[in-house]
Amino acid sequence: SSVEDGSFTWTSPSNIALVKYWGKKEHQIPENPSVSFTLDNCKTTTILSFSKKEKQDNFSFDVFLDGDKKDDFKPKIETFFKRIEVYLPFLKNYHFKIETSNTFPHSSGIASSASGMSALAMCLMSLEKLLIESDVAMSTDENTINDGFFIQKASFLARLGSGSACRSLEGDLVVWGKHHEIEGSSDLFGVKYPFEVHENFKNYRDTILLVDKGEKQVSSSVGHNLMYGHPFAQERFKQAHKNLSSLINVFKEGDLDTFIEIVESEALTLHAMMMTSMPYFILMKPNTLEIINKIWSFRQTTNSKVCFTLDAGANVHVLYPESESEQVCEFIKNELVAFCQKGQYINDKIGFGAKQL
Ligand code: PMV
Repeated sequence: SSVEDGSFTWTSPSNIALVKYWGKKEHQIPENPSVSFTLDNCKTTTILSFSKKEKQDNFSFDVFLDGDKKDDFKPKIETFFKRIEVYLPFLKNYHFKIETSNTFPHSSGIASSASGMSALAMCLMSLEKLLIESDVAMSTDENTINDGFFIQKASFLARLGSGSACRSLEGDLVVWGKHHEIEGSSDLFGVKYPFEVHENFKNYRDTILLVDKGEKQVSSSVGHNLMYGHPFAQERFKQAHKNLSSLINVFKEGDLDTFIEIVESEALTLHAMMMTSMPYFILMKPNTLEIINKIWSFRQTTNSKVCFTLDAGANVHVLYPESESEQVCEFIKNELVAFCQKGQYINDKIGFGAKQL
């Protein structure tokens, strides 16, 4: 790539929150800290092609999903560009072609915003790096971008595209949001979880059961706004801080029983917030509850440490240690797949973040 034209390709995964982000202030500042497992198989690949243009009066770009032009994606990216223009002043100098594809089915109810926005943020950082390093006049030691700065700024930018996207660049556990016990944590970008993690969590599994693939009933921006003036909001934000504190010891000791308690409570609290906001929503489907009950009775009748979490939708993420893979996969096939739409599910596990291709 020259500074006139070229392309960068990045692939970036989705992530699943253990302590949930739900509620934000202005400028995509979260009301509470969150922590997530970075996923491995569920990813977006984005090719950003750029060519210098004459006029610099507006943003110019086209978006493609799996080769098809997607004009309905443009407003979201236009908003993203407006928000990040002050941090990437070269945006109006180029025409961009953004070609994106996902490993998971489109509108499967799996958030493609985290993987998509983080992949795009990495592509844009590659261009910034190229521009800074090719500017001979500026090329001193201070004007090269090191890996730490690159990833931190990419996470900062990704946050401005979609909050949870800032947790997708690294692995295997990422914290976003200031927490008093986690040094280096910030409301502005995700950081790698800095403390000891017990080997019980190594290669942790996430099987995503696609219960309802319909259009999202509540977009996440509408959802976050429901926390303004919500009667239980302040208690909820405090609870998230407490749950993250407790997880520090859980990760260190490998305490799977407490892990289950916190993770399932976080998922149900997220949904409880939606059920108790005004207007109110129920985003679970009957099959979501069937699956939860099956997981609970499986735990009672075996000594399995399988548990569930949910995003802002009906799909269920089934989490379990690698050592239980065989047993839990059997259980999923025999008892849970029947509740999935068209029997669809995705096997995934903890991953390590974005990669340049
Ligand atoms: O990143 P957003 O604005 O789409 O919000 C995502 C919120 C949840 O997925 C429900 C929770 C989380 O922390 O990822």
